[in-house]
Amino acid sequence: YRDLRVALLGCGSVGAQVARLILEQGDELAARVGARLQLAGIAVRSLDAKRDVELPQELFTTDAEQLVLGADVVVELMGGVEPARTLILQALEAGADVVTANKALIAAHGPELADAAEQVGAQLSYEAAVAGAIPIIRPLRESLAGDHITRVLGIVNGSTNYILDRMDRFGDSAEDAMRVASELGYLEADPTLDVEGYDAAQKATILASIAFHTEVPVDAVHREGITGITSEQIQAARNAGAVIKLLAIAERVTATDGTQGVSARVYPALIDRDHPLAAVHGGKNAVFVEAEAAGELMFYGAGAGGVETASAVLGDLVSAARRHVVGGPGIPGSAHADLPILPVGEVRTRY
Ligand code: NDP
Ligand code: HSE
Repeated sequence: YRDLRVALLGCGSVGAQVARLILEQGDELAARVGARLQLAGIAVRSLDAKRDVELPQELFTTDAEQLVLGADVVVELMGGVEPARTLILQALEAGADVVTANKALIAAHGPELADAAEQVGAQLSYEAAVAGAIPIIRPLRESLAGDHITRVLGIVNGSTNYILDRMDRFGDSAEDAMRVASELGYLEADPTLDVEGYDAAQKATILASIAFHTEVPVDAVHREGITGITSEQIQAARNAGAVIKLLAIAERVTATDGTQGVSARVYPALIDRDHPLAAVHGGKNAVFVEAEAAGELMFYGAGAGGVETASAVLGDLVSAARRHVVGGPGIPGSAHADLPILPVGEVRTRY
């Protein structure tokens, strides 16, 4: 096999698992790709930080810019907008394909990065940016490219699902459920990102943009978190045959004046108890898709976790690497449908 140089940016929860799997599954991946994935280096902030996985020390560097140059595929797992954005643009300009799990970056700069990739004929993939291990970006972007998606309903934030689920099934108060979620390490370092719906809104942006082939800026996503949800409301929902879930919703809607557009919103919505999303318990994620030809589809699984998320990253990496061996897989372009984003108005609130 020939070698393909893989530059890994970040070696935290996800990056360490990606590095481990590349090294441990080298032969299997080589057979699948038709080339050997050579881990050219791992960029980190601190060379002395303790790692989840034991990895050869000589792979580590603090010079991410240098590492990106000469890579065939760059895997960005640092998080945050900068320097990730600049490094990805540099990687694309230098001819590399890019894989990232960075929801914050894709939500804020997805169209800019997709255009940059398209201009140089490179592949930018971010399966792990929404719902961790669950394949959802590729199904929306590729498998359903010939269909007309009408609605996407996602439980895309595991920690808030865990909190609401405890309140519903175990009768926890909001405070108790939040404390347990925090003790289990489910919440982001800044829990506001989870409980106020910012994390889910980033994912809603990405889902809406892909499902409807349009640009949905994150600040156009109507956002409400779960902090106002009380045990009494949970009980009232139960009495009404429903359950409260924090949903990221992207759907095609028609305004009262007949304008066709899209709505993207995150809020605690009522789900009928017999809807498949009502059975998504604990910290799990699921995305329910409605499409004109395919009908209803549901994607379920782990929305976070180092090794689970690494699975999605590796899938993207294998796909990107494969391009270098056999040419492009023909992912539909990032052309925009130019749909207006309609305000939250007469949209459904129960599903
Ligand atoms: P971590 O915080 O655990 O790791 C971040 C890594 O990036 C660290 O190794 C850090 O270096 C390195 N890093 C950060 N900034 C820089 C910089 N400026 N220069 C060089 N290296 C840098 O993050 P995660 O692994 O949890 O997440 C990575 C990405 O995956 C994020 O975008 C996240 O949103 C996404 N994601 C994570 C999921 C999860 O379950 N964790 C699920 C889905 C997506 P050092 O170790 O030296 O500090
Ligand atoms: N804080 C996120 C969640 C992590 O709870 O789902 C995965 O993106």
